[in-house]
Amino acid sequence: MKQIEMYEYGKLREQSGAIPDISDTQILVEVYVNAVNSGDRMIVSGAMKTAAPLRLPHVPGLELAGIVRRTGRLVTSLREGDRVVGLSPAGGGYADYAVLEESCAAAVPAGLALTGAVSLAAAGLSARQALFVFGGLRPGQRVLIEGAAGAVGHLAVQLAKQSGAYVIAVARPAQHEFLRGLGADRIIRYDEETPDGSFEPADLALGMIREAASSPPQPADGPNAALSSAQPGPELQPQAYRLLKDGGTFVSLISPSIANVPSPRGIRALFARVLPNQSDWTALLSDASEGRLRLHTEAVFPFTADGIQEAYRNSEHGKRGQFLIVRKNEE
Ligand SMILES: NC(=O)c1ccc[n+]([C@@H]2O[C@H](COP(=O)([O-])OP(=O)(O)OC[C@H]3O[C@@H](n4cnc5c(N)ncnc54)[C@H](OP(=O)(O)O)[C@@H]3O)[C@@H](O)[C@H]2O)c1
Repeated sequence: MKQIEMYEYGKLREQSGAIPDISDTQILVEVYVNAVNSGDRMIVSGAMKTAAPLRLPHVPGLELAGIVRRTGRLVTSLREGDRVVGLSPAGGGYADYAVLEESCAAAVPAGLALTGAVSLAAAGLSARQALFVFGGLRPGQRVLIEGAAGAVGHLAVQLAKQSGAYVIAVARPAQHEFLRGLGADRIIRYDEETPDGSFEPADLALGMIREAASSPPQPADGPNAALSSAQPGPELQPQAYRLLKDGGTFVSLISPSIANVPSPRGIRALFARVLPNQSDWTALLSDASEGRLRLHTEAVFPFTADGIQEAYRNSEHGKRGQFLIVRKNEE
């Protein structure tokens, strides 16, 4: 089978490899599509090499969708031929066939394309868990979402709105029209010291901006470690903190250590350690297949070493929705 491996940090090449074996609790998936994940991009660039060193060569690829071709003896929720979406915390998705634990995959309903469903593998899961599991968002509350046009953000805006929250989206001006179309109630720029007009502070903020980071990434534990890295404390995240009310909640998707940094004004700060969860995926997949959640694909790249590098370069800035690496179309 074809796989794309990283042989040096920053460098990818195409190789052929054997179709992997599975254990009793695993499934073998013929991969049709990968979502371009910022965690993969950081791993390949070497940004994580001190925090989470890898043995090279390494096949990256955290997010995928495809068809189940084999199931382990103890697998009960999935069958051969099922269309699935999944998350492979240790990578391995940039291959014709990938191995997933049963708990790291969920069946995709008929009528929802794999190229849409793959956006839910990590981005949708992160949006849902950050808002509701970590953030405890309730109807009528006000939520501020940084990086609102990105892979996680554009889904978080819609999920929050759908739950009855007032949604304040933070993004560059070029993304504002897109965000209005997704239902954001208020849209502000990153550089707005104090938003124009009346502004009522938010109950919850999702922190997704990494560029302000001045310290190298730190390791995070757990199966999703590769998706996370460090972000400095609240003193370097002035906007989201300033726009949160006293005693509000700041959920960071990028700083595992944020809870250790003292927060101002009684703000509760925590890190969202997003974990594979079949019932979260099932809810997201039915939202998408029943039209309540729009999955925006911005660009598609081929399954080649150059195609993936090109996808990474293009998705570094100005990203809107999801970028995909597609190797096979559904019939
Ligand atoms: N904790 C976890 O398990 C977990 C899971 C998923 C994702 N994450 C993290 O969450 C973050 C968001 O993920 P994603 O997949 O949605 O990333 P993404 O698709 O690249 O989107 C990030 C968005 O933020 C905007 N942005 C980034 N830096 C900015 C800055 N300094 N100023 C203004 N806008 C900025 C980008 O817009 P522009 O391009 O226009 O700047 C983009 O729309 C990433 O850092 C990712 O690593 C963590």
